[in-house]
Amino acid sequence: MDKFISQTDSSLKKKKRRWKPKGRQVENSFYEEVSNLLRGIKFKRDELIEYLHLLQDNFGVLYDKHLVALSTITNLPLSEIYEVATFYAHFNIVKNSDTFEPIKVVRVCESLTCELFGAQKLLSDLKSSENKNIKVVPGPCMGRCDVAPTVCVGKNYVDNASASKVEKAIQENRFEVVVPNYISLDEYKKNGGYNIVNQIRNGEISDNHIIETLKDSGLKGKGGAGFPTGMKWEIVSKYNGKKYVAVNGDEGEPGTFKDRTYLERDPHRFLEGALIASLFLKASNVYIYMRDEYPSVIKILSDEILKLENEEVVSKGHFILRRGAGAYICGEESAMIESIEGKRGLPRHRPPYVAEVGLFGKPTLTNNLETLFWVRDILEKGSKWFAEKGLNGNKGFHSFSVSGRVKNPGVKVAPAGITIQQLIDEYCEGMQDGHIFKGYLPGGASGGILPAEMNNIPLDYGSKELADLGCFLGSAAIVVLSDKDSMKDVALNLLKFFEEESCGQCTPCRVGTEKTVKLMKENIWNKQKLSDLSEVMAQASICGLGQAATNPLNSVLKYFANEISYD
Ligand SMILES: Cc1cc2nc3c(=O)[nH]c(=O)nc-3n(C[C@H](O)[C@H](O)[C@H](O)COP(=O)(O)O)c2cc1C
Ligand code: SF4
Ligand code: FES
Repeated sequence: MDKFISQTDSSLKKKKRRWKPKGRQVENSFYEEVSNLLRGIKFKRDELIEYLHLLQDNFGVLYDKHLVALSTITNLPLSEIYEVATFYAHFNIVKNSDTFEPIKVVRVCESLTCELFGAQKLLSDLKSSENKNIKVVPGPCMGRCDVAPTVCVGKNYVDNASASKVEKAIQENRFEVVVPNYISLDEYKKNGGYNIVNQIRNGEISDNHIIETLKDSGLKGKGGAGFPTGMKWEIVSKYNGKKYVAVNGDEGEPGTFKDRTYLERDPHRFLEGALIASLFLKASNVYIYMRDEYPSVIKILSDEILKLENEEVVSKGHFILRRGAGAYICGEESAMIESIEGKRGLPRHRPPYVAEVGLFGKPTLTNNLETLFWVRDILEKGSKWFAEKGLNGNKGFHSFSVSGRVKNPGVKVAPAGITIQQLIDEYCEGMQDGHIFKGYLPGGASGGILPAEMNNIPLDYGSKELADLGCFLGSAAIVVLSDKDSMKDVALNLLKFFEEESCGQCTPCRVGTEKTVKLMKENIWNKQKLSDLSEVMAQASICGLGQAATNPLNSVLKYFANEISYD
């Protein structure tokens, strides 16, 4: 204790004078640039990701000096801004340089279907197009698997891509989004659009009728888990106080492109469904979380929401569109809610479930975009219209996103309970010439892989036959594989995807995906180690990503063992 030296007047005088506050300082010119950009915006913490988009859209990168300025202007710790910006793949941070060059990113999809159609060669060919303003990077599924391989040049997609097509787009400066033709608000209204909304507002359709119709129809959530929609709406409606609707438009499951297809054709059918959900719940707001990989959909939705506000179909600000920034995990509903709140997309521990404690701590209805797309039709045409579409006791239909080795890929609306063979023969004009059917993914990257001999399994949620084989339907993303495809390569591609997209929050998934990929890259697989890892990940991971990540591995071990060498 007697070692304590008091701060005497003379010792204080010896201290160096400090002219600035502690910590990193904002530079005037950067402060000016950011404050000009944010002028008129009332700062909200949950809009942080929107501000980061604004900066990157305007300056071409996230320059660290702009982030320091953003921190000063918003009064948010720099570390918090930095941790959010670095979580999302679409943000490009430029550090510690005196100047910065705007970057246009060329993103080459390297997920399964695109890889089957030559993505890796395309990626290495395009690397030669790189310069200080063009950065070529790989990226996960961009929801265009029916026109694989695909490359995103800025915000402009080059489908059925070749290196020369992409280079031409770069030379011609075609970086901007291309918006397809879609059903306008006027056209939609002429065909009975928003009549159901009006009937609910006039009291002609009761809450009870909505719930009973949804329940009888058998509609199950189209996001992957297949939870009965009527039951979910009822559960959330029972909570008191402020509530929200949060729409999941993240569509990141490799092989899935149905949500994009519907939104690019008929956006109001979805918007009406979302409005019906919100009227039913008396929700304060509807948040629509849309993945950044769909710039055309973001443009369509922001234009059409504005029209709805101008025509007073919805009050100003009722629909809030939020843009993701390239993170598959944000499709998991609690991670999506974190992201809407402007944070990193880390899945939450449950319970409590988001139905009770969701967005901003309030009860929240989360639905996949396609689930809401069908609500108007079901209420208009009756529960039977939907229920009767199923086969062999299954109710309704699915929008199968079919890609891979079939002649005519695309979104196929087909009965729940259909088999893969029927899908290929009756909806996709059969296999591509020169390809023999060998296997298929019944439910995207996480739903497992089945061999062609198992071509008679009914495809639906809760299908016992699928579950008994270790598979599930998920978002109904079907990838058809042929004798030209190596199942070892297929499984490795899928596992690499999970390794890349794991949020890293829990050890079994973070370390497990990495170790599994490493072991699967070996010529000879250590079956015991792989099975142990798979078991730990399935049992101990926090969310569905880690729990299901090794499904493709387990399927290959089970059904395609002849293609693997073991020690
Ligand atoms: C890793 C992971 C990714 C997911 N990705 C999506 C997605 O991209 N879109 C989606 O609607 N649901 C996704 N889900 C499911 C959601 O958590 C949630 O169940 C769904 O949005 C609920 O809507 P629904 O009942 O209408 O299906 C994902 C789940 C997990 C575990
Ligand atoms: S399982 Fe994976 S993705 Fe899910 S919380 Fe854990 S680390 Fe994150
Ligand atoms: S767009 Fe490439 S795999 Fe889906």
